[in-house]
Amino acid sequence: MNQDNCKKILLINGVNLNLLGMREPEIYGHTTLKMLETNLIEKAKGLGIVLHTMQSNREYEIVETIHQAKAQGIEGFIINPGAFTHTSIAIRDAFLGVDIPFVEIHISNVYQRESFRHTSYFSDIANGVIVGCGLYGYELALLNITNIISNK
Ligand code: DQA
Repeated sequence: MNQDNCKKILLINGVNLNLLGMREPEIYGHTTLKMLETNLIEKAKGLGIVLHTMQSNREYEIVETIHQAKAQGIEGFIINPGAFTHTSIAIRDAFLGVDIPFVEIHISNVYQRESFRHTSYFSDIANGVIVGCGLYGYELALLNITNIISNK
């Protein structure tokens, strides 16, 4: 399929997710971010989707990326905001500002963890939320956002 005609989705991984594979492997596993992204880009191709990826530990970079998304033809997002989930009104407002659908994903089951992880600034405005399915959650999020943008 000609990639130019494909729908574009952006995968955003927030703070500390660059450490995947090294960081608390008993919670987040041994797969690196690079491996995760490569696998997901392939899965997306099979669905006729071009998947772009970005990771940042800087809140403002994520905000700016969301602002620029429409101009770049992004039709949907998958985001694991990391700890920004529990703190970032700025990223929440960026999503509200651009009105592009997004699916929130967390590798761990945040509801089995510390109470400060039970609050998300995103879940009530997300088009879907996937929690506690490990890295497989990213594939579920990809299927979900693909379905959402295909039915628009
Ligand atoms: C996380 C859960 C967050 O509470 C944590 O700060 C992360 C990762 C997850 O994927 O399970 O960095 O979003």
